Amino acid sequence: MSRTSRNLLVTGGAGFIGSNFVHHWCGHYPGDRVLVLDALTYAGNRQNLASLEGKANLRFVQGDIGDRPLVDGLLREEAIDTVVHFAAESHVDRSILGPGAFVQTNVVGTFTLLEAFRQHWMANGQSAEYRFHHISTDEVYGSLGAEDPAFSETTPYAPNSPYSASKAGSDHLVRAYYHTYGLPTLMTNCSNNYGPYHFPEKLIPLMCINILMGKPLPVYGDGQNVRDWLYVGDHCSAVDAVIHRGTPGETYNVGGNNEVKNLDLVHMLCNLMDELAPDLPVRPSKKLITFVKDRPGHDRRYAIDATKIQTELGWTPAETVEKGLRRTVEWYLSHQSWWQPLLSEEYQAYYRQVYA
Ligand code: NAD
Ligand code: TYD
Repeated sequence: MSRTSRNLLVTGGAGFIGSNFVHHWCGHYPGDRVLVLDALTYAGNRQNLASLEGKANLRFVQGDIGDRPLVDGLLREEAIDTVVHFAAESHVDRSILGPGAFVQTNVVGTFTLLEAFRQHWMANGQSAEYRFHHISTDEVYGSLGAEDPAFSETTPYAPNSPYSASKAGSDHLVRAYYHTYGLPTLMTNCSNNYGPYHFPEKLIPLMCINILMGKPLPVYGDGQNVRDWLYVGDHCSAVDAVIHRGTPGETYNVGGNNEVKNLDLVHMLCNLMDELAPDLPVRPSKKLITFVKDRPGHDRRYAIDATKIQTELGWTPAETVEKGLRRTVEWYLSHQSWWQPLLSEEYQAYYRQVYA
C-alpha cells in the first residue's frame, strides 16, 4: 500500500531515544522530511546524529521548545504535519537536586509546543492527518509491590519524583488538547530504555563505564528495585507503529517484557564485561559493587502491561534483555570516543553531588 510522506518535527532528537528514533525514521522513510529541534542541554549531543549529517531531508536546529516564535516559524517553514515530542529533562536524580528545570521544560515547554501546534493545525484546516505524538514514561503510574498487576493504560497516575510529576503534568495537557480542541494527539508510556547513545548518568552506561575505569558500582538501597528494560530500537518501532496506526486521543503502554532487579542487572553487566573487555583494572568486576544510600522516593517496581499495543497494533518487542545487554555492552566498548568527552567537569561535579 502506498504511504503519504510526512514532515516531522522531532524534539529532543539529539538525546538518547530521540536520536535513535531519527536514525530509525531516516532509515525506514527516506522520502520523509525530518526537522530536529534540540536545545543541546548537557544531555543533547550532535555526535548522536553525526552519521546522518549532510542528508538533504534532515535539518537540525538548536533551540528551546519553550521559544514560541522559533517553534511557530519552524512549523510554518517546514509545513510540519507530525510532531514527535521527546524533548525533556529526563533524569530522576537531577530532578531531586533541581526540580525547576523539569517543570520548565516538561510542563511549560510541552504546553508551548502544544499551543503552537494547535494554532498551526487550525491554520491548515484542522487536518485529520496531523499527529502530535507525546513520549511519556511508566513512572507516572508510581510504584508497584512485588505481586501487583503491571501498569495498564487505565492505571491511575501516582507520580513520586519531580521528574515523574512533571511528565504526568505534560501527559494531562496532551490529553486535554485532544478532548478540548480535538487536536490529533497520541501518547506512549514506556519503560526503561537502554542501548546506544545512552548518557553516562543512567544506570546501564554508568555501570559499564565504571567497570572499565575500575570505579565503585553504586547500587541504591538494597538493589531489589525492579525495572522493565526495553531495548531502544524496540521503542522506536513502537512509536513508528503508533504514528502510523494508532488512534488519536489514545495512550499505548510500551514495555520490554524484561523485569529485572537492579542488583541482578548489575551482575549481568559485570559478567558481560568480564567476558568482553580484555583489560579490566579489577576482575571479577562484581568486586566493585557498592551499596549506597537509597534515592529519596525510590519507586520499588515498574512493570508494563503492553497488551493494548500488541493486540491493536501488532507490535511486540524483538529483543530479550540478555541479547540487548550484550549488544549494548559491545557498543560502549567500541564507542569510547563517544562517551569519554561526556565525562566533563560538569558531569564530575554532578557525580560528586549524587554519590559523595
Ligand atoms: P535525554 O535526556 O537523553 O534527551 C533529552 C533531549 O532533549 C536532549 O537532547 C536535550 O538536549 C533535549 N532538551 C531538553 N530540554 C529541551 C528544551 N527545553 N528544548 C529542546 N530540547 C530540549 O532523554 P531520553 O532518555 O532520550 O528521553 C526522551 C524522552 O523519553 C523523554 O521525554 C523521557 O521522559 C522519555 N522516556 C525516557 C525513558 C528512558 O528510559 N530514557 C523512559 C521512558 C520515557
Ligand atoms: P535510572 O537509569 O536512573 O532510571 P529510572 O530511575 O528512571 O528508573 O535508574 C534505574 C534503576 O537503577 C533505578 O531503580 C535506580 C537505580 N540506580 C542505582 O541503583 N544506581 C545508580 O547509580 C543509578 C543511576 C540508578
